[in-house]
Amino acid sequence: MVADTYDKPVHIAVIGGTGIHNLPNFTHVATLTPTTPWGTPSSPISILTHPSPTTGLPIPIAFLARHGLSHQFAPHEVPARANIAALKSLGVRSIIAFSAVGSLQEGIKPRDFVVPDQIIDRTKGIRPFTFFEGGIVGHVGFGDPFDEGLSAVVRKCGHALEGEGVVLHDKGLLICMEGPAFSTRAESNLYRQWGGSVINMSALPEAKLAREAEVGYVMICMSTDYDCWHATEEDVSVALVMENMAANAANAQRFVGAVLDALSSEEHKDLVQAKHLVGMGTGGISTA
Ligand code: ADE
Repeated sequence: MVADTYDKPVHIAVIGGTGIHNLPNFTHVATLTPTTPWGTPSSPISILTHPSPTTGLPIPIAFLARHGLSHQFAPHEVPARANIAALKSLGVRSIIAFSAVGSLQEGIKPRDFVVPDQIIDRTKGIRPFTFFEGGIVGHVGFGDPFDEGLSAVVRKCGHALEGEGVVLHDKGLLICMEGPAFSTRAESNLYRQWGGSVINMSALPEAKLAREAEVGYVMICMSTDYDCWHATEEDVSVALVMENMAANAANAQRFVGAVLDALSSEEHKDLVQAKHLVGMGTGGISTA
């Protein structure tokens, strides 16, 4: 039976995006519906367990669907503060976020994976983007927006799956745009001139809020299209994104599953449970 409470801390979370709705081969033990001072998260949080590869003991993972269970939240409507605060309240210290992205480079083909190391913020400031307001003043370093330790584990897992059809690019500049309309051709070409590798609508403010909350954050991107800059390839459309996502869903799930296995081993216990303190906040957010 699936419970509605879970009384142990959960250190690892997956935020699933377009195409990643669940994690097969995990045992669903609880469904939680937390509320936070910033509202309710975009979906109930599923607590899934799987055995640690080193101890065999069940390791819990929190799974949250970024766009809601029926994809009811457009990127600019995702309650990102509630999502991060709810995960933090469960004890989460490490987030593996997943996102479909458009490719801005010939060499990043549809269905390739990218673990970006940089972001340019092209959201328009209309999304609530900080916990630090209303008398809580804080500043965090964001020079390296993704957690390096988690990224290293993700890259290793991705490369280990190369024989099974996973193509992984180790680094990349992610452009996070506002949407919901896709880019114009002029914008797409501008982002290419800036050195952009991939583009999505979902990394921000999620990554910044995780940093403010002292939670490690890494994003696994899966390319679904060549946006609209390519002379001979089809322009991005929802149908194209969904088609490539569906065609490569098994690889995406295998990849995320391998990362969760690795992070559940004794070797990475300290990394997963570390407080990701960066810059000078006021002690992060408290949701207790
Ligand atoms: N997500 C998937 N493809 C995208 C694109 N081309 N632009 C923005 N977000 C995307």
